[in-house]
Amino acid sequence: MKAAIFHGPKQDLTIEEVEVDNPMAREVLVKTVASGVCHSDLHFVDGFYQFPAPAILGHEAAGIVESVGPDVTEFAPGDHVIACLSAFCGHCDYCLTGQTHLCRSPEVRRSSTDPPKYTWNGDPVAQFANLSSYAEKMLVYENALVKIRDDMPLNQAALIGCGVTTGVGAALNTAKVEPGSTVAVFGAGGVGLSAIQGSLIAGARMIIAVDTVEAKLATARELGATHIVDASSGDPVEAIKNLTGGGADYTFEAIGLKLTAEQCFESIRRGGTATIIGMIPQGEKVELDGSSFLQEKKIQGSSMGSNRFRVDMPRYIDFYMQGRLKLDEMITRTGRLEDVNEAFRAMKAGEVTRTVLEFD
Ligand SMILES: NC(=O)c1ccc[n+]([C@@H]2O[C@H](COP(=O)([O-])OP(=O)(O)OC[C@H]3O[C@@H](n4cnc5c(N)ncnc54)[C@H](O)[C@@H]3O)[C@@H](O)[C@H]2O)c1
Ligand SMILES: [Zn+2]
Ligand SMILES: [Zn+2]
Repeated sequence: MKAAIFHGPKQDLTIEEVEVDNPMAREVLVKTVASGVCHSDLHFVDGFYQFPAPAILGHEAAGIVESVGPDVTEFAPGDHVIACLSAFCGHCDYCLTGQTHLCRSPEVRRSSTDPPKYTWNGDPVAQFANLSSYAEKMLVYENALVKIRDDMPLNQAALIGCGVTTGVGAALNTAKVEPGSTVAVFGAGGVGLSAIQGSLIAGARMIIAVDTVEAKLATARELGATHIVDASSGDPVEAIKNLTGGGADYTFEAIGLKLTAEQCFESIRRGGTATIIGMIPQGEKVELDGSSFLQEKKIQGSSMGSNRFRVDMPRYIDFYMQGRLKLDEMITRTGRLEDVNEAFRAMKAGEVTRTVLEFD
């Protein structure tokens, strides 16, 4: 099969012919139909996060089941599925206390004594996020998949695989935005626009989008932001405080920068909650004013929208089908696997919300 190989930071991915193994035990082989290009992959290419090379990146995908391992009971060839990096074992402490998105059980991966899932010229290639969707096929643990309705278009379904679940889930599951509340979202890319839409679904009365790119702010308005703040022309913290009369109830950081994480915390009211979604470079410190804690200001992280993806993703699809979750507007470009480097460039340049790579 064709796959985009990651050779290490600051290098282009290259398209190569890669061998994929047959599914063992509880593994499923999925034909990739669509893969979104999420900024998290770009953080690894940029070198802000480390991953061993060679590897196949990509983690926001939908496809069709091709074959299943002997112990798979929940999937059959032909099933339409979304893949999620929050693969769960189902019986560890995290799983049993309702936090399947925090499961880190090694059971969801092959062990070092098993044959490698992928080889290129006879050498093993690492799987990224238990998924590796920049490839014509994905060989994944069955608890990394959810079956979806056949009438859901797979390009739009792919976005639910990461960005949408992350943003909508940050609002609904992590922060639990309350009806009537005020919200500010830093970053109006795929994740931020989803946090805006999640806040709208939750019933927020004011949703402020913060970005530095005019076109992103225009899309944010279209998808539910009631107010916009251009952070390139003034202090966004002051703007949010003015609009909300002292600070927002909930703020979200969907960029991945120290500066905006700090601004996100500074923009909440007394008792408010800041939720950091963005991947701030590994090792970098976020500095907060210590006296803020006397005002009961809270800050928390959010991993993949604190998802219960087998439950959440089919719900998000129903929202999409009902017109209450807008995904078409987020796919600003489509391409082929060969266009993955261009998709990274366009994302960095602020030219796209999401590129979706389509496969035959
Ligand atoms: N926590 C998780 O589980 C999780 C999951 C997925 C993605 N992420 C992270 O979320 C972040 C956003 O991902 P994305 O795919 O939406 O990225 P993106 O590139 O599509 O969006 C980022 C947006 O931030 C804007 N921006 C950049 N600098 C800014 C600034 N100083 N002030 C205001 N706006 C600014 C950009 O114009 C862009 O619209 C990334 O760090 C990504 O790695 C985290
Ligand atoms: Zn992602
Ligand atoms: Zn578990």
